[in-house]
Amino acid sequence: MSYNLLKGKRGIIFGALDENSIAWKTAERAHEEGAEFVLTNAPVALRMGTINTLAEKTNSEVIPADATKVEDLENLIEKSQEILGGKLDFVFHSIGMSINVRKGKHYTDQNYDWTHKGLDVSAMSFHKLMQTLYKKDAMNEWGSIVALTYMAAQRVFPDYNDMADNKAYLESVARSFGYFFGKDKKVRVNTISQSPTPTSAGQGVKGFTGFMNYAEKMSPLGNATALECADYTLTLFSDLTKKVTLQNLFHDGGFSNMGVSQEIMEAMEE
Ligand SMILES: NC(=O)c1ccc[n+]([C@@H]2O[C@H](COP(=O)([O-])OP(=O)(O)OC[C@H]3O[C@@H](n4cnc5c(N)ncnc54)[C@H](O)[C@@H]3O)[C@@H](O)[C@H]2O)c1
Repeated sequence: MSYNLLKGKRGIIFGALDENSIAWKTAERAHEEGAEFVLTNAPVALRMGTINTLAEKTNSEVIPADATKVEDLENLIEKSQEILGGKLDFVFHSIGMSINVRKGKHYTDQNYDWTHKGLDVSAMSFHKLMQTLYKKDAMNEWGSIVALTYMAAQRVFPDYNDMADNKAYLESVARSFGYFFGKDKKVRVNTISQSPTPTSAGQGVKGFTGFMNYAEKMSPLGNATALECADYTLTLFSDLTKKVTLQNLFHDGGFSNMGVSQEIMEAMEE
């Protein structure tokens, strides 16, 4: 069902790699709700992925940008405003990558070049993105910037590895930059802390299936899907959430406030 919730709104969506990506579902839903946007991803991901199918479906243009490169972000933001015909109302940062995770390097045995790269891609890119938007004065008043995160920023999930630290940095940047964006531009900045979701990035985490099943059994409403995450994200882009800012919002079926569930207790007694 669509409500025209984003009619007249313009934005940029990062991170749609394939149809499982949370950004992919968000783009589909944003289109259904009347938004116009530019899709972007790292040049290498554009070569590997299937983003053109999404672009056609949502009547969008694709502009390559490596989110760690400020000159790419500058080009993206300038071109997007030209294509969309004005300033932006929403920006979605749906980017994450750890080479230590990918290559199975344990948290206690990091390759620090990889740790640096992962921090740059997954977290510092959010600062770079916001700084570029801020300096270019590219956001409309009452616009909304959202990034995706995971609860390993607050609690220990050993196999989440250095991504836990990256997410803690990301969430902090959302608050710190969100202050200036709020005061100076009337723009809100939030992170959504999503359930484990079977995407390319998610499935890269060691023991992901166990991780997902555990969260499913712990959450009174079950895990939130990528599509449900897309729906929640749209509410933050809409005018219905104008005074929500500097928040880390859990979208996890209740997992984050659970101690233990009946299902887990029963499994322990077996
Ligand atoms: N899948 C999960 O379990 C889960 C849970 C909570 C939060 N998240 C977060 O959701 C976000 C989206 O991930 P997803 O699960 O949809 O997986 P995904 O693999 O589909 O998306 C990750 C995206 O990051 C992009 N990316 C990587 N390096 C980049 C760079 N240098 N510049 C620009 N883009 C780059 C990839 O190309 C890809 O499109 C990430 O921040 C992830 O950490 C995922």
